[in-house]
Amino acid sequence: MWSYPRVLAHRGAGVLAPENTLEAMQVGWEHGYRAVEFDVMLSKDGFPVLMHDPFFGRTVAGAGEVCKTLAQDLMKMDAGSWFSPAFAHARVPSYEAVFRFCCEHSIWMNVEIKPAPGHEQETGRVVAEITQRLMQVTRSKAAAPLLSSFSFDALMSAKLAAPGLARAFLMDTITNDWRSCLQQLDAIALHTNQKYLSPILAKKVKEARYGLFCYTVNSPERAREIFNWGVDGFCTDRIDLIPFNFRGDKLF
Ligand code: G3P
Ligand code: MG
Repeated sequence: MWSYPRVLAHRGAGVLAPENTLEAMQVGWEHGYRAVEFDVMLSKDGFPVLMHDPFFGRTVAGAGEVCKTLAQDLMKMDAGSWFSPAFAHARVPSYEAVFRFCCEHSIWMNVEIKPAPGHEQETGRVVAEITQRLMQVTRSKAAAPLLSSFSFDALMSAKLAAPGLARAFLMDTITNDWRSCLQQLDAIALHTNQKYLSPILAKKVKEARYGLFCYTVNSPERAREIFNWGVDGFCTDRIDLIPFNFRGDKLF
């Protein structure tokens, strides 16, 4: 059900570095983290880069859209100054560069497919294909990445393109159709917002023999609580408060 690390650094290093950058991966690694979640989106020319928002303005300056900008231009953009001047050198990284960094540093990846609106199927397909190719060329001995997405269509495309790669469906709130979605996607896990999870829902997911993963858990107390509900893993923004080897006091 869940054969992966239990604690992941959200977007690279959570609040300690600019999200979705190589610099964040480095900071996470320096804090002892060996598992990471990050977001992947396609450029105008169909090239996967790490990015959370489809529009510029928050982590990169200016106005514009990721899906209307060429990869070569995206990768010149300053993705660190918004966070602090110390990271002004950080650029938007390619998925390939981050994948290679993670392989070299033995960091396990939860790759969140984050399609720009209207690009769901293409994004799912491309991320799955490139993941498969990178696994072959890097000959990584680490566990294969887990692909996740809020987009059912993106995950379905990923399934068609690379059926052998594990998938997880992201649901902010767990709606009544969760089983059917997981079944159709042939997914191994449900990823959900810890804010809306209850012990009863957690029990149902675990009884159905799916992995259960939460975002974003930022205190050891909450981590302990949801582990006791049967949650298998979570990502955190507070890699300074929750150590990578945190296990809580699992009672069963
Ligand atoms: O993959 C878990 C979490 O990252 C989902 O939310 O908005 O941070 O990508 P978001
Ligand atoms: Mg994410």
